[in-house]
Amino acid sequence: MKTGIGVFVAAFAALGASWAGFVLAPSLQLGGTKVTTVLNSTDEYPVQRPGEAALGLQVYRANGCAACHTQQVQQDGTAFEVVLTGAGKDPVTVSNLAAGLKLTGLTKEAADAAAKTIADAGGKTETHLSGTGADISRGWGSRHSVAVDFLYDAPVQPGSLRAGPDLTNIGARAADANWQLVHLYAPKAIVKDSTMPSFAYLFEVRAATGSAEALKLPAGFAAPAGFEVVPTPAARHLAAYLLSLHADAPLYEAPYSQLAKP
Ligand code: HEC
Repeated sequence: MKTGIGVFVAAFAALGASWAGFVLAPSLQLGGTKVTTVLNSTDEYPVQRPGEAALGLQVYRANGCAACHTQQVQQDGTAFEVVLTGAGKDPVTVSNLAAGLKLTGLTKEAADAAAKTIADAGGKTETHLSGTGADISRGWGSRHSVAVDFLYDAPVQPGSLRAGPDLTNIGARAADANWQLVHLYAPKAIVKDSTMPSFAYLFEVRAATGSAEALKLPAGFAAPAGFEVVPTPAARHLAAYLLSLHADAPLYEAPYSQLAKP
C-alpha cells in the first residue's frame, strides 16, 4: 500500500512538472500577447488576415505545407547602419565623404564614428539597427520572428523542417496571386527542378470558358486545347493566405529595420 502511494505521488509529480514546463510557463510568458504598434509609428501590428487568407491558413494546415516550410526567421546578431539623410550646405563634399566611408554592417562605435565624421562636415545621418544571420542574408526577412507575429493564427504553423524556403515573408517576396497559383498547380512550371509536390487537386480542369480566373501556364504545363485550369475556392484561399504572409515590421521587442540593399 505504502509503495502504491509513493508511485502515485512520483507519477503525479513527473506529469505535473512537465505540465508546468510545457503548458503553464509558456502560457504565463506569452498568453497575454496582444496587438502592439510598429516602432516609431501609430500603425497597429499585426493586422488580422482578411477573410479569404484566414480560411487559407486552414488549407495550408490541411495540406501539410508546414512539413516542408518554416515560418520562423532566425537571427544571430545585429549590425548598425548609417544612412545619409541630409547633405547640408556643401552636398558634394558630404556625399563624396559618405561614399568613401563604410556605412553598413558596423559596430555601435564604428557607426557613431562615421555619423560624427559626416556631422562634422555638415551632413545629417540616421543610424539604424538591423538583424544579421543566415536567414536574413538569404532574404527571408529583416528580423527574427516573435510571438506577436502569430497573434491571429490558430493553429500557428511555424514548422520545423526546411525542405523548401521559409515563408514568413513570402507575401512580400512573391506578391502576385497568379504566380502563387501557377506555382501551387505546377511548381516545375516556375522552378525547373523543384522538388515541391504539385497541388493540382486544388484546381479544376474544365472546358474553356475564357474565364479571367484561368491560369496562364507556360507551354508544357497548359491544359489541352479547349480546356482551362481554374483554382477551386481552397486554392484561392491558400494563395490569399500566402500573400498575407509578411512579418518584418520593426517592433519594440525586435527593433530591427531592413538593411539598405548594397
Ligand atoms: C515535400 C516538401 C514540400 C511540401 C509538402 C510543400 N513544399 Fe513548397 N516548396 C518546396 C521546395 C523544395 C521549394 C523550393 C522550390 C520551388 O520554389 O518550387 C518550395 C517552394 C515554395 C514556395 C516558393 C518560395 C520562394 O521563396 O520562392 C512557396 C510559396 C511554397 N513552396 C508554398 C507551399 C505551400 C502553400 C505548400 C502546401 C500546399 C507547400 N509549399 C508544400 C517543398 C515543399
